[in-house]
Amino acid sequence: MNRPLFALVLTLTLLPSAQAGDATKGRQLVDKHCQSCHGSEVYTRPDRRVTSLDGLHKQVRRCELALGLTWFDNEIDDVSAYLDQRYYKFK
Ligand code: HEC
Repeated sequence: MNRPLFALVLTLTLLPSAQAGDATKGRQLVDKHCQSCHGSEVYTRPDRRVTSLDGLHKQVRRCELALGLTWFDNEIDDVSAYLDQRYYKFK
C-alpha cells in the first residue's frame, strides 16, 4: 500500500465519530430540514411511536425520504444521535 493511502485508511479507522453519530451535526440538520411537518412535540408526546434506537433510525430515514432528501447513513446516524440524546434517551 502506498503511503498516502495508508495514512488515509488509518485516519478513517481512528475517527471516533465514524459510527457513533455526531449530535451537534444532527441538530443542525434537524433545525434546517425537519420543522416543516412537525416540531419537537412528536418526539416527546406520551404516545410516541419510536420505542428503540433501531426504530429511531428507521423513522428518521422515512421522514428524510418523505422530504426528498438524499442523506448518507452517517447523516441519519447524526440526526438519530441528536434526537436520542435530547429527547428519546434510549442509551
Ligand atoms: C413530509 C412531512 C414530514 C417531514 C418533513 C418530517 N417528518 Fe417526521 N414525521 C412525519 C409524520 C407524518 C410523522 C408521524 C406522525 C404521527 O405518527 O402522528 C413523523 C414522525 C416522526 C418521528 C417519530 C415521532 C414519534 O412518534 O416517536 C420522528 C423521530 C421524526 N418524524 C423525525 C423527523 C426528522 C428527523 C425529520 C427531518 C429529516 C422529519 N421527521 C421531517 C412527517 C414528516
